[in-house]
Parts: sequence; structure tokens; C-alpha cells
Amino acid sequence: MTRVAIFASGNGSNAENIIQYFRHSPQISFELILCNHPKATVLERADRLQIPTRIFNRQEFYHGNEILQLLQNKSIDLIILAGFMWLIPSNIITAFPQKIINIHPALLPKYGGKGMYGDFVHQAVSRAGETSTGITIHYVNENYDEGGIIFQKSINIEKGEQPLSIAKKIHALEYQYFPVVIEQLIKEKK
Ligand code: GRF
Repeated sequence: MTRVAIFASGNGSNAENIIQYFRHSPQISFELILCNHPKATVLERADRLQIPTRIFNRQEFYHGNEILQLLQNKSIDLIILAGFMWLIPSNIITAFPQKIINIHPALLPKYGGKGMYGDFVHQAVSRAGETSTGITIHYVNENYDEGGIIFQKSINIEKGEQPLSIAKKIHALEYQYFPVVIEQLIKEKK
């Protein structure tokens, strides 16, 4: 059994999609959703899905050990970042080597780094006149969007395609591939 914690800051549609994908799986249990935003929609999803939540602030996350201890007390094996906006502090990175993964809505190393999240990514891709973009699933280190790449999938877009349209295509890709890649990763780690 792989015990999973999900970090999410906002809507949480990927978090829900992942949980739904595995809902009949005996191999994986979702122990906790951690969130830095008390009004985030992901918390409503967590309630509906009956997954315990923990809301935290900057002080607790960056200057305390409580979140790390919570993850350890719950014997978490895998941490999934699904739309989580803050850098993971080094105490958690060190305690979970190659056990924290993130999804980024572009083909890293392009369109990554600080400030490159959500619609800002799709706006930059559209403005640059790219004819393809995609998703990247990668391990997490102390820097934004820099850990080893696990999986990428690209799609074609029209030159100058609008950010909203790109966002829709990217979300569809995320829903299709993120759970499958997690499943594969869990198999490999056994
Ligand atoms: C996704 O596009 C993901 O790639 C990025 O943040 C977004 C989260 O969307 N890291 P949601 O909260 O899962 O709907």
C-alpha cells in the first residue's frame, strides 16, 4: 500500500481526478490533502471525497517542523503536488528523496521557474507563437520546476492560439496522464 499526501493551493481538479482514478485501487491510499489557502476549492473537494485536510501558513511551513512531522506520522510514501504554488522547504525535500512529484503545464525547461504557473504559462506560450506545448511530470527539489523529468507529453497548438484554449487542452492532458504516470511510478518503486 502506497500512502499518499497531496499538496494543492487552488482548484484541485487534478487532485480530484487522481483520487477518483484510484478509488477502487487497493494499492494506494490518500491520507491527506495539504493546502496553504483556507478558501481553496480543493478543500471542498477533499470534504466531499472524505480525505482529511491540513491548512497551514508560511510560518508553519517554512519555520517549523509540524508539517514534516505530520507527513512522517502518517507514514507518507509519496507526495504529489497538484497545483501547489509554494516551494517545498528543504527539511521535507531531504526527508522524501525522489518521493515528491509535481505536474507543470508546459514542456520544461521551457516556461518554468518563479512566476510561471497557471494561466501565466499559457499566456507566455501563446505570446511566443509556439506551435506545440505540453505537460511535464517531474521530481521536486528546492528550486521551482527543476527536478528530474519523469514524463512529458506534447500537443500541437495553433500559432497564436488563445491562452484559454491552450489551458483546456493542457488540463485534458493532465487528467489523462498524471494518474497513469503515478500508477507506473508506484509499480516501479515496489
Ligand atoms: C495545473 O495546470 C497544473 O499543471 C499546475 O497547476 C494547475 C492546477 O490545476 N501545476 P488544478 O488546481 O488541478 O485544477
